[in-house]
Amino acid sequence: VVRTRTSPDHSVLVVHTDRPDNDFTALFRTLEEDPDSYLTGHRATFASAVGRSFYSQILPSNSVHLGWTSWSVQWTSRLPVDPTEHPGRLRPACCDLDTVCSAYARQAARDWHEFVAFRGRELCDGGRLVVMTLAVGEDGERGFGPLVAAISDTLAELRSAGVVTADEVGRMCLPIVGRSAADFREPFAPSGLFERLQIEHLEVFDGEDRFWARYQKDRDATTFGKQWAQFARASVFPSFAPALERPAAAADVFDQLEAGVATRLGAAPERTPIPLAHVVLVKRPRP
Ligand SMILES: C[S@@+](CC[C@H](N)C(=O)[O-])C[C@H]1O[C@@H](n2cnc3c(N)ncnc32)[C@H](O)[C@@H]1O
Repeated sequence: VVRTRTSPDHSVLVVHTDRPDNDFTALFRTLEEDPDSYLTGHRATFASAVGRSFYSQILPSNSVHLGWTSWSVQWTSRLPVDPTEHPGRLRPACCDLDTVCSAYARQAARDWHEFVAFRGRELCDGGRLVVMTLAVGEDGERGFGPLVAAISDTLAELRSAGVVTADEVGRMCLPIVGRSAADFREPFAPSGLFERLQIEHLEVFDGEDRFWARYQKDRDATTFGKQWAQFARASVFPSFAPALERPAAAADVFDQLEAGVATRLGAAPERTPIPLAHVVLVKRPRP
């Protein structure tokens, strides 16, 4: 899309960002080898990476024309509650304890404020930031209920079978938060401007469950369960690794967890609600 608006010799630098412990090898290999890579056929396009949390400034001020973040800013910058104090709350941001939920709500507000502030510094005048992240629906829906239930049930089974200990399961938690439309607006109140950023677009919507859509066509419940379980393994199981006393056992535990989740979801397929937010921020020039 960017290339349709520039001459071929106009240089474009793409900066991929992730946490310092992220392995960027697969990314750079894909950029080099995939025929659909944005580098293919574009000699004036350059790829780079920053390994630093985006809850700090990670690029020079006034240097970014277009920012994009998807499926990432729902992870909190830290655990606001020690999981060992309230064990067994897999998704503490929406658990049964008000004190825990409010600690996560405060963390979510602080993180969004910081995230927007730092991006505000990094963007050039007129630059835009596109954000796709988890939301809370207007009806309070936080989504992913069937998946979280399948993970909890399987963990209970693995604990009974002695595959994991009660302490390990107690420490497991997903520091993930959804935000409502009001939460996204908060830093911009009351003037509508924050770090010269303005909300250009804000939409909370019910995202498509693609596995469910496919199941509606082929009625293949086994594949439905497996697809959700694979998604869980890639996106959330890594967060459980620090809870395990023997890190070397992680692959085996995750194999069994994935199999259990697949079986459970495949046994009773249902559509997963996925409340998502699409936010576009634009940086206004100095008056
Ligand atoms: C589900 S992946 C999304 C990857 C990609 N953006 C996409 O849309 O497919 C979430 C990524 O966010 C990264 N992440 C989480 N917290 C972060 C932080 N504080 N700073 C930078 N990256 C972070 C994780 O390491 C992970 O690679």
